[in-house]
Amino acid sequence: MTVPLRWSVVLALVVALLGTTSAQTPATGRVMRDKLAHSQKILEAILVSDYASLDRESAALVRATELPAWAVLKSPEYLRQSAAFISAIQDLRDAAKARDLDAAALDYMALTLTCIQCHKHLKGARIAGK
Ligand code: HEC
Repeated sequence: MTVPLRWSVVLALVVALLGTTSAQTPATGRVMRDKLAHSQKILEAILVSDYASLDRESAALVRATELPAWAVLKSPEYLRQSAAFISAIQDLRDAAKARDLDAAALDYMALTLTCIQCHKHLKGARIAGK
């Protein structure tokens, strides 16, 4: 009986581990970390008035939202937060196109707020989802 017992211990451990990890897949983690890297590059682009990089990095952020790994939650609130995020990026791209650094700085702050808003929503959603 020792072998099945050992397996059941392993199984119990696996179940316990799966139960404690978040709903996030490895792909989601990668997309989300890339998102952080792009937003840091956006800040850098604003600081050194690099409009080409500003546009490139904000385009990359928009593309991230189009990946399946982005759509981890289907709730109306998550979709609303996603839309606010995309709209903030669009404002930033408009500012880059207009070569308007002051507007870009404000749009960057607005974008950062959408990151925080969605993450605040996620905390509640993940507890509710478990
Ligand atoms: C529409 C919702 C939404 C917005 C907006 C959003 N995120 Fe996220 N973010 C997520 C989700 C979903 C995860 C996966 C989290 C989980 O499972 O807890 C995540 C995870 C992350 C992580 C952790 C990744 C890891 O290592 O696991 C970072 C860092 C992050 N986001 C940065 C940002 C930044 C920076 C912004 C703004 C530029 C932003 N997020 C905007 C939904 C969002």
